[in-house]
Amino acid sequence: MDALAVRVETLRWRGDRLELIDQRALPQRLEYVACSDAAETAAAISAMVVRGAPAIGCAAAFGVALEALRQRDARGPSRDAAFERAFATLQASRPTAVNLFWALARMKSVLSTVRDRDGPEVAAALTAEAQRILAEDLEVNRAMGRHGAELVADGARIMTHCNAGALATAGHGTALGVVRSARDAGKRVSVVANETRPFLQGARLTAWEMLQERIPVTLVTDGMAGHLMSRGKVDIVIVGADRVAANGDVANKIGTYPLAVLAARHGIPFYVAAPLSTVDRAIPDGSGIPIEERDPSEVTGFRGERWAPEGVSVVNPAFDVTPASLVTALITERGVVRAPSRDALRALFD
Ligand code: MRU
Repeated sequence: MDALAVRVETLRWRGDRLELIDQRALPQRLEYVACSDAAETAAAISAMVVRGAPAIGCAAAFGVALEALRQRDARGPSRDAAFERAFATLQASRPTAVNLFWALARMKSVLSTVRDRDGPEVAAALTAEAQRILAEDLEVNRAMGRHGAELVADGARIMTHCNAGALATAGHGTALGVVRSARDAGKRVSVVANETRPFLQGARLTAWEMLQERIPVTLVTDGMAGHLMSRGKVDIVIVGADRVAANGDVANKIGTYPLAVLAARHGIPFYVAAPLSTVDRAIPDGSGIPIEERDPSEVTGFRGERWAPEGVSVVNPAFDVTPASLVTALITERGVVRAPSRDALRALFD
């Protein structure tokens, strides 16, 4: 098969199992991992088989549906206890992306309406809700793409960080969804993909995804961003988000904050594309967003090869927080919010 013709289907539901593209193996191998219950789904999220805020939320929803299928013949306290375990395991899989908790809250709310029904009915209701979450995410991404594309000029050179594309969502993507929509609107766009140390989502995933789409992409290491900006080689920056606080502060992949500072220094617009499911109105500002600390081995080496000396001390925060004051605009499915603020975000939900 022509590698460029491969369709990116990040999550696919097979009726009795959830199949996920194994994002640890890309770009060398395009292969799927199957999850048959909530524990396997949570393990896939923790291990980054599936990653990216909206995709994590969708996967967690299917994790609950899988548990419901397992509990089809159970009733009463044993079934309640199984669901409680499933929710707790999924909730503990990753801490920063709020979409995980948002999707689980939706699943919990459906469960509460069917709790007294027979197992097959409970399973059908929860599976249908997970499928709705998946389908809605795709729609929301397309809407964000349409709004965001209006901010993109013909010929724009767009820098992005991490992977906020089809691989990070149900499809189309958030930041890369804007790129796709701009291209579909006839604009000649190109992407500068930051490598994104230490997990290399930019080098492995964004570069791969853009090549699939035949959108011109240039890979750079994270430290090159300022140089390229100072030489006038970047027109706009568009990134995704894992959690947006009520005041518009944005948690996203580690390295996003310095990019926003650099963009401000060079007068380059810094856009964040994020659905409303990524906005956490319960957290007043970015200082309250939990930042995941991942295993030091991600920093000392990669895929089993170690390059740092034994005994060196390491920190590995997976995300940082960009203050709202550095965000030119937030691109959502309900439109573009310029200079995001507490009031502007509140108005989005009204
Ligand atoms: O650790 P990851 O790969 O899950 O981090 C992903 C990001 O930071 C993305 O930018 C964010 O989730 C938005 S994805 C549409």
